[in-house]
Amino acid sequence: MTRIRIANILKDGKPGEEVLISGWVRTRRDSKNAFSFIELNDGSCMSNIQVVIDNDAEGYSEHIKDVTTGASVTIKGELKESPGKGQRVEVQGNSIQLLGTADAKTYALQKKRHSFEFLREIAHLRPRTNTFGAIARVRNTICFAIHQFFQEQGFISVQTPIITTSDCEGAGEMFQVTTLNLNRLAERKTEVDYEQDFFGKRASLTVSGQLEAEIFATSVGKCYTFGPTFRAEKSNTTRHLSEFWMVEPEMPFYELEDNMELAESFIKSVIGKVLEDCKEDMEFFNLRIDKTLLETLQNIMENEFKRVSYTEAIQLLKDCDQKFEYPIEWGTDLQSEHERYLTETHFKQPVILYDYPRTIKPFYMRCNDDGKTVRAMDVLVPRIGEIIGGSQREERLDVLLDRMKECDLDPEEYWWYVDLRRYGSVPHSGFGLGLERLVQLVTGMTNIRDCIPFTRTPKNADF
Ligand code: 4AD
Ligand code: MG
Repeated sequence: MTRIRIANILKDGKPGEEVLISGWVRTRRDSKNAFSFIELNDGSCMSNIQVVIDNDAEGYSEHIKDVTTGASVTIKGELKESPGKGQRVEVQGNSIQLLGTADAKTYALQKKRHSFEFLREIAHLRPRTNTFGAIARVRNTICFAIHQFFQEQGFISVQTPIITTSDCEGAGEMFQVTTLNLNRLAERKTEVDYEQDFFGKRASLTVSGQLEAEIFATSVGKCYTFGPTFRAEKSNTTRHLSEFWMVEPEMPFYELEDNMELAESFIKSVIGKVLEDCKEDMEFFNLRIDKTLLETLQNIMENEFKRVSYTEAIQLLKDCDQKFEYPIEWGTDLQSEHERYLTETHFKQPVILYDYPRTIKPFYMRCNDDGKTVRAMDVLVPRIGEIIGGSQREERLDVLLDRMKECDLDPEEYWWYVDLRRYGSVPHSGFGLGLERLVQLVTGMTNIRDCIPFTRTPKNADF
């Protein structure tokens, strides 16, 4: 007999069917009339299945006292129509096998609500809770929907390197990768000779796969990378991780408007898929995490994103009544409070800001003729702020070289990137979406640390 997932039973199971199920006990109640109720969950869906098991069932008398919250069991039985409300079927168990006990004195997940902060300290058990089980399933659906969106439109999936010797964003917030003996270097107090290092030069974990994606976009066509990225920013906020996943599509022959259009349809398509495929989990989030969640997501789906230039947005922020902690001037970057004002208070919907000052954006963005701005675009959404950052890329060799000089970058170190402008250069564009920020938007979770299975932030790399 093959084991069947509880999600499948709850969806399609018919009374009279024989079933074999395994999972973790959420609760057990013993009735005076010589049988027990077990609420069993196997993580395949939010709902538990109710098992009714008589005291003459095989294994009952030896094991039932150890069938406590958190214990793992296998049960054989038959589906019965359920008299209880909220469920169609239940299992009448005729044998129970105890796989693993869970000591009630020490098992951390007893049947009460735990704070998300506490659950972060037990990341090995938190996916067994309703909230984190739901986040794992929704995140999975999002990842699948991302691949589906691009695959259906003929994008090629490209794997870009995790170890790199170039700094794409030029912010210098990179984790170094080295096999040099740091203790010995500290003793000697000499300059580091990177030629002696593993790769013969200074190497780091990537902050973005974009530069390499551009190579493939200008050879095999529309492509995307989807992988882990690393940033050594010391930002302890609810929207920053040191290790996060980014999806980066890169498209030849796309100008900024095409890029904006793709970004908008991409976000809508992924949210649409989650609303369709994760109904039970999404209703849970709407009930327990954020009562306006489904409404917010519907609103995102139904309305066109507002497109506003950076310059217009600055004017708007300067003219509004709201007092901000950080003053805003043309030439400064928007803070989270400004982004939230635009999306939550002013426009009440996602906003695409474009044409940012060149001084606050990386070297690769295409320069506008005004001599001041570049063809950048950020997609801002309610509650999160920036969810996508992208741009049209500078495809003109001479302009790119000038920009690199301006940004203090050595074109020789980026010789292969510059070469793409020397041989068959084409207009092209792309963007990066932070997966965990999208999970945050879709689930309504307030802290990004709860939107990735294993959280990496400053001073925190356990599990
Ligand atoms: O705006 P960013 O820095 O853009 C790039 O890296 C470009 N190379 C992308 C491209 O054009 N191909 O980052 C893109 C997105 C942000 O909008 C945000 O959603 C996410 O990545 N992100 C982070 N997410 C979590 N923690 C962090 N520390 C993040 N930094 C950026
Ligand atoms: Mg950005």
